[in-house]
Amino acid sequence: MECMGSLIAPLFSADAIAVEGSVSLVDDQILPEEWEYIQGAAPKRRAEFGTARVFARRALAALGVAPEPLLPGVDRAPLWPSGITGSVTHTSDYCAVVARRSPPCRSVGLDAEEVRPLDDFIVRLVSTPTERRWLSGRPGQARDVLTLLLFSAKEAYYKLQYRITGRMLDFQDVEVDIRLAAGSFEARTAAEGVPPDLTSVTGRFRYAAGKVLCGVELPCDPTRELDR
Ligand SMILES: CC(C)(COP(=O)(O)OP(=O)(O)OC[C@H]1O[C@@H](n2cnc3c(N)ncnc32)[C@H](O)[C@@H]1OP(=O)(O)O)[C@@H](O)C(=O)NCCC(=O)NCCS
Repeated sequence: MECMGSLIAPLFSADAIAVEGSVSLVDDQILPEEWEYIQGAAPKRRAEFGTARVFARRALAALGVAPEPLLPGVDRAPLWPSGITGSVTHTSDYCAVVARRSPPCRSVGLDAEEVRPLDDFIVRLVSTPTERRWLSGRPGQARDVLTLLLFSAKEAYYKLQYRITGRMLDFQDVEVDIRLAAGSFEARTAAEGVPPDLTSVTGRFRYAAGKVLCGVELPCDPTRELDR
């Protein structure tokens, strides 16, 4: 059902635990406390929620943490056990979870997007004017992949910052510089109330298996390099 970290592991530090694989209906592995949040949901949603919980428990086990429910908090953000930070993403057929000890990691963000044709309105929704200038002139499929890369980088950054700020951000609040040759990006925001160590965060991306995948990590100690 899953493989360990082949797509997302390169996005994170060496001590991060990455679990990923296909989405499947695993109702029998959803814990009673978790059912409260998912009962009545369609099978597709139960499958993505349940798969994420199964993968999260495998990641936690690898970190020496006994199985426990991974409950959604306010705005769906998962409530990781004390001393752990993690992030979840799913597409229609794929789910991935990353988890790290905290400290040394203050927060992580992970996102995956299936590459697909995009309408112009999505491009305008996701990108700032500066990002649209960077996209302009690129042929159709390249424009779609790069727009999804901007989208995914913003979603990964959003998940990372939410654990710390609890703030809702709009796509226009975050600007992303993609460094294509380096496989990295910088996500920046000037949104009010975002603390200085979150106004510019560097992440990594991959384009693999028909997906764009982005990961970001924030160390507890900003003077320490991430061990990739
Ligand atoms: C939270 C959000 C980013 C999820 O992104 P998505 O691409 O739709 O879905 P993904 O499959 O990648 O991620 C879903 C998982 O993210 C996690 N998640 C949900 N809300 C979260 C939050 N506020 N903070 C951190 N993680 C969150 C959950 O684990 C969820 O899976 P689960 O419900 O099965 O547990 C999105 O739904 C959202 O709320 N966006 C509003 C803010 C935004 O997008 N701003 C623009 C970017 S700055």
